[in-house]
Formats: sequence, C-alpha cells, structure tokens
Amino acid sequence: MKTLIACYSYSGHTLKVAEALKKEIDADLTDIKTENDRWYFFKLWDAFREKHVPIKPCITDLMGFDSLVVCCPVWGGKVPAAINQYLSELKNLRGKRFGVFVTSGGSRSQKATSQIREYLDDQGMYFLGQMRLLSKDVDEGNYGEMFDYFVKKFIK
Ligand SMILES: Cc1cc2nc3c(=O)[nH]c(=O)nc-3n(C[C@H](O)[C@H](O)[C@H](O)COP(=O)(O)O)c2cc1C
Repeated sequence: MKTLIACYSYSGHTLKVAEALKKEIDADLTDIKTENDRWYFFKLWDAFREKHVPIKPCITDLMGFDSLVVCCPVWGGKVPAAINQYLSELKNLRGKRFGVFVTSGGSRSQKATSQIREYLDDQGMYFLGQMRLLSKDVDEGNYGEMFDYFVKKFIK
C-alpha cells in the first residue's frame, strides 16, 4: 500500500511523529506550509472559525497513492486553517483509504480529528484509523501502543 503522509506542523511535534511513521510504513511525506505566518491570536481565531489560509505548493494529487494520512496540531480545539485549505485542494481521493493523527498540548480533542474524518468520509474515502498524542509524550519519544497500532493499519 503506497501512502502519502500530509503533515502540517508549526513547532515540529507533529512532524517528528510523521517522520517516524514515514520510516515505519515507507510512505511519502509532504510538508504543508502556509504562505504567511500569523500572530498567535489569528492562528487560534482562524482555526476556531474553520477558515482557510493560502498554503505553499505541496502534494495534493493522490493519483498513484492508495492511502493518505493527514496530521496536524490541535489549535483552539480544532485543526489549523492550513489543513482546511489542504483538504480542499486534494484531488483523486475517492475510494482511497485514510488515517488521521493530531498532537496537542493537553486536550485529546475529538473535534480536530472528526473535522478531518467527516470531510474525507464525505469525499468517498475509507477511514482506517486515528491517534491523538500529547506534545510532552512526543518530546520524550513516547508514542505508546497507539502508534504501533496505527502503523499496522497502513502496513498491509
Ligand atoms: C495557536 C495555537 C493553539 C493551540 N491550541 C491548543 C488547544 O486548543 N488544545 C491543546 O491541547 N493544545 C493546543 N495548542 C498546543 C499544540 O496543539 C501542541 O503544542 C502541538 O503538539 C504542537 O504541534 P506542532 O509542534 O506540530 O506544531 C495550541 C498551540 C498553538 C500554537
């Protein structure tokens, strides 16, 4: 199964996990970057209001991939606006499989993962699995059994 990991990470935690996953499942990784940085308050506001912000070119066409993993930090209980934009730019996703993971400071926000899940479900993709990790565990390299379980879903 050829997997694309699409990762938005502001301070590196999510990217660290994405890189570990890439190694385990031999996936391709595309780094989602915004065109402009925004002040903390605006990051929070844009996420909370489920807005979109311009992103730099990255892999958005799933032609040639069997599955997709979308990953990002939790901002204001939701996904960063860059993820909303990324999802809207995806092509050739129908019928493919997907997984989701988020990292967060404290909350194991259900909302952020379900935002991505609901969107991709609606596009005709099939959900394989999700995980939520705390940034302090990521700092300690402690991804737990959840990571191993997630990896297995994408190895077949
Ligand atoms: C703008 C902003 C909003 C955040 N909002 C939340 C939040 O609502 N809940 C939470 O648990 N952590 C929140 N955090 C913490 C991040 O989710 C956490 O540090 C995450 O692991 C960072 O991932 P990254 O290093 O890949 O950017 C927020 C951080 C930022 C910068």
